[in-house]
Amino acid sequence: MEATFDFGMIGIGVMGSNLLLNMADHGFSVIGYDLKQERADKLESAASPGTVVKGTTDIQFMIQGLKKPRKIMMLVPAGKPVDDVIATLLPLLEEGDIVIDGGNSYYKDTQKRIDYLQPKGIHFFGMGVSGGEAGARFGPSMMPGGDKEAYQYLQPILQAIAAKADGKSCVAYMGNGAAGHYVKMVHNGIEYAMMQLISEAYDILKRGGGFTNNDLHYVFARWNSGGLQSFLIQITAEIFRTLDTGNNQGKSYLVDAILDKAGSKGTGKWTSQDAMDLPVSIPTIDMAVAMRDLSVYKDQRVKAGKLYQPQIQKIDLSPEQLTALVEDALAFCFVMAYAQGLSLLAKASEAYNMQIPLPDVVTIWKGGCIIRSALLYQFDRVFAADATLPNVLLDESMAGFLKEKENAVRQVLSLAIGAKIPVAAMGSALGYFDAFCSDRLPTNLIQAQRDFFGAHTYQRIDKEGVFHTEWHMTE
Ligand code: 6PG
Repeated sequence: MEATFDFGMIGIGVMGSNLLLNMADHGFSVIGYDLKQERADKLESAASPGTVVKGTTDIQFMIQGLKKPRKIMMLVPAGKPVDDVIATLLPLLEEGDIVIDGGNSYYKDTQKRIDYLQPKGIHFFGMGVSGGEAGARFGPSMMPGGDKEAYQYLQPILQAIAAKADGKSCVAYMGNGAAGHYVKMVHNGIEYAMMQLISEAYDILKRGGGFTNNDLHYVFARWNSGGLQSFLIQITAEIFRTLDTGNNQGKSYLVDAILDKAGSKGTGKWTSQDAMDLPVSIPTIDMAVAMRDLSVYKDQRVKAGKLYQPQIQKIDLSPEQLTALVEDALAFCFVMAYAQGLSLLAKASEAYNMQIPLPDVVTIWKGGCIIRSALLYQFDRVFAADATLPNVLLDESMAGFLKEKENAVRQVLSLAIGAKIPVAAMGSALGYFDAFCSDRLPTNLIQAQRDFFGAHTYQRIDKEGVFHTEWHMTE
């Protein structure tokens, strides 16, 4: 069989098919493999007229039909399915072929797979793909990492299909080894933080401010045309006007019928775990993971609610004043979430020798992905001044922006705390900021305590060296 296809996909569910159709629309001939014949048929029937799209249930047929070096992507669930696909592919591949894992795989698994396949001459790429089904079809943000030499073969295809922001494609080489999956993991950690922060803003406006779903729709829609413009704010505005057609004849809002237990697939947790291993402080991401976890304990929350009977107070501000304050508070907290995620990337890049290009990370997050927002444009300026800045809070222009918003966060937090509305992520964002800006933390006391009970030693501010004191109980 003649090798005519530019790109092959293993797993042609919605995401895999949409990515292939997107490639085909950009002039590439593509082939998708799946165990199910109906998926192969569906892929072909969804192709735009004049494009070359083939679906097959015969893996050998697909491999033989691909131009060399073969470019094959898999979109299968993380974990064992990825290893199973590799085992199936391996006997059929040749040196120089490229295999991409486009799922949300754990980066340490990706590194193991790279190490396993490298001696066999197979280039394995871990690539984060963000943007959901619509993104895959019309422009995702993609975070590929792996062998730099091999990236040249992928670049033209990925650049063509990626979302565009500011005239640039939202795809770039993210660095060595498992850097692509690492960057996607951190993207998701930031996603968790932003979603938690938005949910707290919702709670403040709804329970503290007495806003209806209709009010919330207009508030979020207006925010989305200002400084908070972002994918997550945009979809939130839509959520508040979506009626519950499945029940109650569409007379109530769907959001009110959804159980308040959050699911998660692990990427947020991995971000926190890895940050603690390095270690890097990312408390707003940690808190977002913790709040999803807490949400699952519904029975205990119901019991505790009966026991403590928290009386939610109304916040005594006009809707306009409250909305303006929460808008500024959210912008501040979003920046904290980005700052924490980017500081983790800066540290990981160095510690794992991944060479993650932070300016490019910011560029490719500006379009197509879940955490895209107008706020990210500010980081261009920051990293143009210093591409390896360890924390964006150290930039002067960021300082100006944050100082303007700082009072709003303090006010929103004190109002929310007074009203008994839980604001753990917002609190963690301000706590992070306050600690990061403190040239003197109370940690001297912790060092004294450690030395007191465990002879763990301490350093002094006035001379070099490591010290221990024989501390005494006076009674
Ligand atoms: C994206 C999303 C996507 C997925 C999350 C959901 O960038 O398109 O991050 O990858 O929606 O992984 O994660 P949870 O199920 O853990 O919320």
